[in-house]
Amino acid sequence: MDKQRTCIEVNAVSKRFGNTVALKNLSFKIPYGEKFALLGPNGAGKSTTLKLLVGFLNPDLGEVTIGGVTPSSVAARSIMGYLPEDASPYHVLSVRENLEYVGTLRQIENVKETTDSLLDFFDLREYEKAKVGKLSRGTTQKLALALAIIHKPKVLLLDEPLNYLDIPTQEKVITLLTSLSVTSLVSTHIMSVASRLTKNVIMLAKGAVLWEGSIDALKKLGAAEEPIESIVARMMIGAQ
Ligand SMILES: Nc1ncnc2c1ncn2[C@@H]1O[C@H](COP(=O)(O)OP(=O)(O)O)[C@@H](O)[C@H]1O
Ligand SMILES: [Mg+2]
Repeated sequence: MDKQRTCIEVNAVSKRFGNTVALKNLSFKIPYGEKFALLGPNGAGKSTTLKLLVGFLNPDLGEVTIGGVTPSSVAARSIMGYLPEDASPYHVLSVRENLEYVGTLRQIENVKETTDSLLDFFDLREYEKAKVGKLSRGTTQKLALALAIIHKPKVLLLDEPLNYLDIPTQEKVITLLTSLSVTSLVSTHIMSVASRLTKNVIMLAKGAVLWEGSIDALKKLGAAEEPIESIVARMMIGAQ
């Protein structure tokens, strides 16, 4: 692939926590404008990969770049939106205060108008004055998603974005995420979510790429009519 077309690059990255090897010589590339799902069982290394891409962790070995520059640079940070696993917005601020504060830090224009439209989109109006510490997990997740996209990022890194959301909100978020013209990497352990959000999959197991390709190619690995979940489960069990 032409290097100029690469937006997200993970090159021979290893990362361990004490004796736990989280990532083992991991490499992949995501071109500009493409949406990828990062799939894998619990402990496969999905969240660690996203934390490296957002610059919250550094690799022990290897290199991570966003648009050719290091993730912790201002250039990379300003174009990225990140939803952490179990995201925790400022607990002592209200929903509106979180949006206005982060919107201001992100130097967006029209902070109030953007806040209003996000409150409407995520059905958060009734909670706008509520402190985050008092919200349900699902409502907190909606706010965290709104905070991740408030500055219209060009690169979106989302760690299990549909966690805690009810079905109607999941549908809304899927529609939103598929409509955004961004480069994105979305982690999930649920295949049906991956297949609706993206056409491309990077499957991790034990901190390395187990398989990479399109969802169509993945379906072709199974028997006719075999559900995609069963194909993925078979591949993951084979990797254990
Ligand atoms: N801060 C940490 N300290 C110790 N071990 C960690 C830490 N973060 C992740 N790990 C370990 O690294 C491995 C990969 O974790 P993670 O990236 O969270 O996987 P996933 O998101 O795919 O479930 C797991 O074995 C996990 O226990
Ligand atoms: Mg995780």
